[in-house]
Amino acid sequence: MTNVLNTSHASRRGILRLIGAGTFTAATGGLGLIGSSPASAASATTASTARGAAAVPLAGDPTFWQQVERQFVLDKNVLFMNVGTVGSPPRSVLQTLEDTNLRVAVAAESGYSSFDDVRALAASGLGCDVDEMAITHNTSDGMAKILAGLELAEGDEILTTNHEHSGGNSPMQQLRDRKGVVLRRVALPVGNAQRAEDYVELFRQAITSRTKVMLFSAPTYKTGTMLPIRMLVELAQEHGLVTVVDGAHVPGMMNYSMHELGVDFFAGSAAKWQCGPGGTGVLYVRNKVDARYNPNPLPAFWPTITSSYPDAGLPPRTTNATASYDMGRYLTSVGNGSIALQAGVKQVMTMWDTIGRQRIEDHVLGLSAHLKELIAERWGVERLYSPKDDPRLVCALTSFNPFANAADVTTQAKSVEFVSRMRSEHSIVIRNVDFPVIGASSSHWAVRVSTHLFHQHDDVERVVDAMWKLSRAMA
Ligand SMILES: Cc1ncc(COP(=O)(O)O)c(C=O)c1O
Repeated sequence: MTNVLNTSHASRRGILRLIGAGTFTAATGGLGLIGSSPASAASATTASTARGAAAVPLAGDPTFWQQVERQFVLDKNVLFMNVGTVGSPPRSVLQTLEDTNLRVAVAAESGYSSFDDVRALAASGLGCDVDEMAITHNTSDGMAKILAGLELAEGDEILTTNHEHSGGNSPMQQLRDRKGVVLRRVALPVGNAQRAEDYVELFRQAITSRTKVMLFSAPTYKTGTMLPIRMLVELAQEHGLVTVVDGAHVPGMMNYSMHELGVDFFAGSAAKWQCGPGGTGVLYVRNKVDARYNPNPLPAFWPTITSSYPDAGLPPRTTNATASYDMGRYLTSVGNGSIALQAGVKQVMTMWDTIGRQRIEDHVLGLSAHLKELIAERWGVERLYSPKDDPRLVCALTSFNPFANAADVTTQAKSVEFVSRMRSEHSIVIRNVDFPVIGASSSHWAVRVSTHLFHQHDDVERVVDAMWKLSRAMA
C-alpha cells in the first residue's frame, strides 16, 4: 500500500509538471494574462506519448483531478457540462496558439505542409500509424471526406442508424441525391435494457445483398450509446462491408486503438473531448492490411480534398501490412494550413498522453457512472436514454428524461426551458437532444450531461441536485 501511494504521489508530481501545473497557476480568463514559458510546451512534447503509457493508479485521486481542472480557463461561476458540443482548450494550448500565431505573422511563415509531426503524435494517441492519420477541420469535415472518397454507385446501400448527426447525414444524403445511393436505417432502441449483442443483431438483420457500407456513430450524440464498434466491425467484415464510424466524441474521452477496432474509416473531433483548438479534427483511414484485426482488402478510396495529388496518380492500395503511400498526408495537405492550430493540436495531444488516456477514460466514465446511478435512484432507471449496466455500451454522455411529469419530454418548449433555467437559475450548462423513440408517436426531447476531466465528483452531485429541484419547480 505504502509503495503504491509513494509511486502515485511521485508520478502525480511528474505528470503535473509535464502538463504545466505550477506554471499556469494564475486563474486568469484573459489570454494575454496567462503566465507561461514556451519551455513548458517544449518539455511537455518530450514526454511519453505511448497510448495508455500511464499505468499509475491515480484515477481516484481527487487532488490530482483538481489540479487538472486548474489547467482550464472555464468560467469559475459556471459549471460547464456540455463538452459533447464543444470542449475548452487548456491554458497551455491557448498559450501555444498565441505564441505560434505571433511567430507565424512576424516571419510570414507558410503553412503548406502535411504536418507529419502532429499526425504522428495524434496517431500514437489513437493507436494507429502516421500514414493512416489526417488532421481535419472537425468531425463533419472528416465524414464528408470519407463519403466523398468512397466508390459507391446507384443502388448501393449504406446501412446506418436513425440517430446520426447532420455531420454524417449531410454527405450521405448527397450521395443519395447525387448518385442514387440508398440509405437504410436501423431504428435504435434507447435506455438501459439493451446489451451490445442486441445492437449487433439489429444491424445483422438489416444487411441486404446491396449493402456496401455500415456507417454509425459511436457514441450516438443523442443518447450517449456507445455502439459496440469492434463487434459491429466483425459483423461488417463477415459480409465484406466497409465500416465508417462517426467517432466525434471518442478522441479525448476513450482510450481506443484504431488498429484494434479494425475499422476502415473513423472521423473524430479534436475540439470536443480532446479540448484542442476550435476547427480541428482527426481522421483515421485504414491504409494497410493487418490480418489480426481486419484481413479484408482495403476499400477503394480517393482523397478527394487535397492539393498534393500526384500527376502520375497514386499507386494501387497495398494488399499487405506495408502501406503503399501515406494516405494521411494527402488528406492533410490542403493548401495553406494553420500552423497555430496544428501546434495547438500537438500540445493538447501531448497533454492527454502525459496524463494518460486510460486514466482520463476511467475518470470520465467513473463520473458518468455516478451520475447515472444518482439519476436511477431519484428518477428511476427507466428515465435514462443512455445505457448504464453493459460496460460495452457506456460513455461519458448521459441523456435522460428529467421531468416530474414524464410526458413533458415530448414537448420541445419544456426541454428548452429546462436547459435555459439550469443556466440562469443554477449556473450549469447542459443541452437538450431530440430523437425518435421506437413506439413513440413524437420525438423525445431529453437533456444531456457531459462529464469530463475538469469535473469532480461533487460537480455530479451538484448537477443532479439542481436538475431535481428544477424538475420539481417545473412540475
Ligand atoms: C456524433 C456527432 N457527429 C458529428 C458531430 C459534428 O462535430 P464537429 O463539430 O466536430 O464536426 C457531432 C457534434 O456534436 C456529433 O455529436
